[in-house]
Amino acid sequence: MEVRRSAMTTPALNTDWIAELRRALLRWFEAQRRPTPWRENPDPYRVWVSEVMLQQTQTATVIPYFERFIARFPTVQALADAPLEEVLRYWEGLGYYARARNLHRAAQLVAQSGGRLPSTADRLRELPGVGAYTAGAIASIAFGQPTPVVDGNVARVLARLLWLKGDLKTAAAQKQLWRLGEQLVDPQRPGDFNQAIMELGSMVCTPAQPRCSECPVSHLCAAFQRGQPTAVPEPSRRAPTRQVVDVSAVIERDGRFLLVQRPMEGLWGGLWEFPRATRQGRESLETVALRAAQQLGVQAEPRSVLTTVKHTVTYSRIQLYGYLCAWQSGEAQRGEYVACEWVAPDALENYALSAPQRRLADALRQYAGVLWGICLP
Ligand code: ADE
Repeated sequence: MEVRRSAMTTPALNTDWIAELRRALLRWFEAQRRPTPWRENPDPYRVWVSEVMLQQTQTATVIPYFERFIARFPTVQALADAPLEEVLRYWEGLGYYARARNLHRAAQLVAQSGGRLPSTADRLRELPGVGAYTAGAIASIAFGQPTPVVDGNVARVLARLLWLKGDLKTAAAQKQLWRLGEQLVDPQRPGDFNQAIMELGSMVCTPAQPRCSECPVSHLCAAFQRGQPTAVPEPSRRAPTRQVVDVSAVIERDGRFLLVQRPMEGLWGGLWEFPRATRQGRESLETVALRAAQQLGVQAEPRSVLTTVKHTVTYSRIQLYGYLCAWQSGEAQRGEYVACEWVAPDALENYALSAPQRRLADALRQYAGVLWGICLP
């Protein structure tokens, strides 16, 4: 980073400053905290599920998913006993499905060793999908351990409080931030402290337009005092985005459509999709749709574009076309996929799909409802 060495010894970071930060943050949190189902009953399993869901998703979006998930899988054992397919189905729409696969696998490991989650961050980190952030959150919120949590929100708050310059995403900067977190976390109320600083980052100390007039710690904030609250953190260098065109062949055969299941590892692992291929060079959409079918040993006749969906995956901006095709010949082989099935439009809801593929499925159901039997003889 420059989260330079001097950041650790900045004059602001003395014991009075730390005590005041804890006091002001905790007081604010008591008054302002959002009521969420996992806060009402912070049992370790519920905290774990909520923190995994919150990793890449906003609180308001998580709440209904959390409630449905917990109603269906109320305990570690219930989750461990459930088929992965069903867990993925309950995760659908939250994205980042590796989280659900890891949660399921970790629940099986915890169930095998007695059903209790470990109570320290170090032991929690041994579970699949539990990194420093999730481990710190569970250990502090559910077990009262004085462990810090540093996510993107916390990093931004710390950068502004302490005027930390440079790219916060580098390994060196992250190390410094975690050290700061260790110094700051309130040993009496670590869970509340961590939630307060995360909540401050998401509700008040927001990236572009922080609400400094509502901030309980602006009197302690170096960036505010300089009159430059958004000058830190500085933007990190991002890899340039790539434009990609994908085509999913929506192949009809006797009123059913071909779905394939992706391998468990990697992007969208274990989810189902309409067979998909990426456009090379200046290929036509029809050609790509045919390739998507042929990779499964199916010959199909392209008919028309069903719909198109834009989405982003890390550094790729993807335009996905659903291309309606009529099956001609060939029995579907799995190819690189792990399973394939011919599915009636009404049964698509029983399959876990990624968000963009679900949009193709929704368009297909609408289309099938309106035009059934006319366009696809
Ligand atoms: N973001 C992730 N986990 C959170 C929590 N427990 N409280 C507030 N914001 C969060």
